[in-house]
Amino acid sequence: PIKACIFDLDGVIVDTTHFHYLAWKRLTNELGFDITEEDNEQLKGVSRMECLRIILSIGGVSTSADKLYDLAEMKNRWYLEHIYTMTEQNVIAGAVEFIDAVQKAGLKVAIASASKNAGIILDKLNLRDRFSVLVDGNVVNKSKPNPEIFLRSARELGVEPDSCIVFEDAISGIQAANNAGMRSVGIGSDDMLKNAHLVVPTLGAMSLEDLFSLENFA
Ligand code: BG6
Ligand code: MG
Repeated sequence: PIKACIFDLDGVIVDTTHFHYLAWKRLTNELGFDITEEDNEQLKGVSRMECLRIILSIGGVSTSADKLYDLAEMKNRWYLEHIYTMTEQNVIAGAVEFIDAVQKAGLKVAIASASKNAGIILDKLNLRDRFSVLVDGNVVNKSKPNPEIFLRSARELGVEPDSCIVFEDAISGIQAANNAGMRSVGIGSDDMLKNAHLVVPTLGAMSLEDLFSLENFA
């Protein structure tokens, strides 16, 4: 039976994807090249340093190890400028309602985010108290598609991986959930998230009925 739902944060509950994109774009422009929205797709679910490596390889730029750290810091400062402007408007429509419904149905809920800023974002939007478990980029270092972040979430929730449903907008995140032996719900487009057990455009489009229909995939 399904006992818990594990939610990715960026692109599932809050629409920060564009903010990440703007900050990375600013960095690449500073370095003399550019990235597109399409490049940004590969950055979803991927840790900050791993994103930087991908971006530098797009631009064909190589740099020393401590310079890498400075570049990542700079991107993060620009990203946080956007984060500090966020309001409840940036919570994706229907997300909180669905999470509340899940809890009322007696299931546990956790956040599993590759972001080191997950706590800041949850606090800013007054969402932190809703989740009994938060596993983020400060405690996990293996990037999705490694299943570590979801396995750790299940362990902290006190449930078996096969009783968890994961909600993810990233290709790497769906892969990580599947690698953890969990069922996955893709948030976004069907053709992008082919490996998910179910795909919905947003969390707001998800019903409890849809959720419990996943039981049949056990
Ligand atoms: C993920 C995003 O949630 O967090 C990635 O999808 C991002 O795009 C990653 O790179 C790390 O975020 P942060 O906030 O630690 O730089
Ligand atoms: Mg995401």
